[in-house]
Amino acid sequence: MAKRVTARDFLQRKERGEKIAMLTAYDYPTAALVDSAGVDAILVGDSLGNVVQGQATTVFVTLEDILYHTKMVARATQHALVVADMPFLTYQISPEESLRNAGRLVQEGGAQAVKLEGGAEVAPTVRRLVQAGIPVMGHIGLTPQSVHAIGFRVQGRTSDAAARLMEGAYALEDAGAFAVVLELVPHEVSAEISRRLRMPTIGIGSGAGCDGQVLVLHDMLGIGGAGLRHNRRYAEVGQVIQGAAEAYAKDVREGAFPTSEQAVLLGADAADVLSAVRRVEHHRLIASGDDGTDINPYGGGR
Ligand code: KIV
Repeated sequence: MAKRVTARDFLQRKERGEKIAMLTAYDYPTAALVDSAGVDAILVGDSLGNVVQGQATTVFVTLEDILYHTKMVARATQHALVVADMPFLTYQISPEESLRNAGRLVQEGGAQAVKLEGGAEVAPTVRRLVQAGIPVMGHIGLTPQSVHAIGFRVQGRTSDAAARLMEGAYALEDAGAFAVVLELVPHEVSAEISRRLRMPTIGIGSGAGCDGQVLVLHDMLGIGGAGLRHNRRYAEVGQVIQGAAEAYAKDVREGAFPTSEQAVLLGADAADVLSAVRRVEHHRLIASGDDGTDINPYGGGR
C-alpha cells in the first residue's frame, strides 16, 4: 500500500524546498481520482457549502456535513493527507469543545488533520488540539467564515494588515500548527511570510512565493468558479457533463437509447416467459368480472 503523507512530511518538504500540492475533494469517486493523481493533501473544505450544497457562504456548513464528506474521502484515499475543515462555531467557543469536535473528525471521519480559520485568537485552541495529538493547519488572510465581518476581499494590503498576518502566522506556528493556508494575500506579503516561517504556507490566490498551493476542485475542473482570478481551469468538466446530459436526453427522446446493445434478450425461453406475463393480465380481468373473451392470453394481444 502507498505510504500516506503525514503532517511531519509537510515540514520536511519545506526544508527540502519541495512544493506541496493540495486540492479539495468531498466524495469518494473524486477523492479516489485526486489521490491516485498523487496530490499531497486533500482538504475536505467547508467550501463544500458553496460548490456542493449551493449555499452563498460557508457559515451554513455544519460539523455533521464535514463529518459525512470526510468519511467518503478518507475511505477513498491511500496516499494523500486528509485534512478536515472545522466549520464555523465548532472551534470558537472553547478549546475543550473544539477538541471534542476535532476529535470526531479524526475518530469518526478518518481525517489525519484538521484546519481552522484565524490567527492569534485561535492559538490556544490550536495548542489544545496539537497537545491531544491532532495535527492542525491554520488559515489566515481571507477567512470565508468571517465574511460578514471582512467581506470577500484581499487581506494584508496595508502595513498594519500585513503585520497582523505575520503575527497571526507566528502565533499559529508557536502553537504547533504544521502548515497555514494563506488566502488572497498579496504576493509580496505571502512570500515574505513564507520565508520567515518554519512551517509551510499553502497559498490560494496568494502567489508563487508560498510553499504549496491549494485550489477548490470544482473551480479547477471548470464546474462553476467562472471569473475567479486566482483559479486556473485545468479542464472543462462542466461542459463535458452538460454535453453528455444533453446528448442522453436527445437520444432518449428520439428512441436512440437504449439499443439492443444495452438490453438483455431472453433468447429461447422468450415465448414461455411472455406467456406468463400475459396470463397475469388475463387473471386480473377474470377477477375484475370481465370474462376476458376478447383476448387470447396465450397468443397475440387483444
Ligand atoms: O474550504 C476550503 O476549500 C478552503 C480552501 C479554499 C483553502 O478553505
